[in-house]
Amino acid sequence: MNPHSTAQPLYFDYHATTPVDPRALEAMLPYFTAKFGNAASRNHAFGWAASQAVDVARQQIAAAINARHIDIVLTSGATESNNLALKGVAAARRDRGRHIVTVATEHHSVLDTCAWLAREGWRVTVLGVEADGRIDVDRFREALAPDTVVVSVMAANNETGVLQPLAEAGAMARERGILVHTDASQAVGRIPFDVEALPVDLVSFTAHKLYGPKGIGALWVRKKNPDVAVEAQMHGGGHERGMRSGTLNVPGIVGFGKAAELASLELATEGPRLADLRDRLLAGLRAGIPGLHVNGSLTHRLPGNLNVSVPGIESESLAMAMDDVAVSSGSACATAKAAPSHVLTALGLDPDLACASLRFGLGRWTTADEVEYVIARTTSVITKLREAHAALGL
Ligand SMILES: Cc1ncc(COP(=O)(O)O)c(C=O)c1O
Repeated sequence: MNPHSTAQPLYFDYHATTPVDPRALEAMLPYFTAKFGNAASRNHAFGWAASQAVDVARQQIAAAINARHIDIVLTSGATESNNLALKGVAAARRDRGRHIVTVATEHHSVLDTCAWLAREGWRVTVLGVEADGRIDVDRFREALAPDTVVVSVMAANNETGVLQPLAEAGAMARERGILVHTDASQAVGRIPFDVEALPVDLVSFTAHKLYGPKGIGALWVRKKNPDVAVEAQMHGGGHERGMRSGTLNVPGIVGFGKAAELASLELATEGPRLADLRDRLLAGLRAGIPGLHVNGSLTHRLPGNLNVSVPGIESESLAMAMDDVAVSSGSACATAKAAPSHVLTALGLDPDLACASLRFGLGRWTTADEVEYVIARTTSVITKLREAHAALGL
């Protein structure tokens, strides 16, 4: 069942967010009404029911990354997880060093947190990426310093879907006793992600990218080899083993758990299905749109992502003209203040191409028919825009 129905516009923006899977919603509903208890209430059945539901969900969330449930800190989403990871580790390790390494294509919740830490006196190295969107691991190694405390390298990029060489980079950092944080918001539930197989110490992820509700996320913190200390950024009742105070969002957590379980179960079939649809989309667009440019590596990429630039076409106007398809344009380059996407600029795209980008995000309810429709629609809109430009002598 398609929760966003067959009504227009077609949804091709699964990197921005995903609809809640009806099975996750069904699991959540009782926790708004009959089972509304506070999971911290120890003296009655309402509290026990809520607390048991949180325990089950925590197991499901942990299982999605092959972690122990006790190492999961529940947060309000990946923005908070990224803030907690970086500020929390920086505070806990401030005596060991004052240097952080991150990457230019990270989400703003990482980059802006690092910028804040820089204002607090930390040295921050923001590593550039190659034309394919990936870091060069040799340059990464060179960026590590004796006083580097933590590195933050995302697993998969939210604009281009590009996967970073996390295994190699993480190993280089951990060898030197440097903690490895990764923002895996776009990766968990979409590609295999295993904290025991990867050299990582802190992992941020969020429910609304894997068909769970918005406003609920997690930070996984390694507690063995090494035992990572994270200083709380939210103080209060001491929830989440003191790392994140605040009454637990029980329905959200239950929905996150169910969604994480479903995503893990379906990942092995869903990944190849989406990769196939994405490849069809690309082939169809290439056939009808001369000069189409793919942004970022096609081989190291999330299966459901396609990010392209169409030379000469401003993507904002293109996305608006395609009013029956929900896609994301790079950014509002035409408006006075806006700049092209920091991700595409980091790939070395000139501003014209960066302003001509469209991100297609495919997901659980994307069908082959929808892909065919989007190919035809995009091609016809671009052809018309190009004809109009040619008529105007642009
Ligand atoms: C890579 C990445 N990191 C962090 C976030 C922020 O997640 P949240 O919306 O849960 O705060 C997002 C999504 O917007 C994302 O794509």
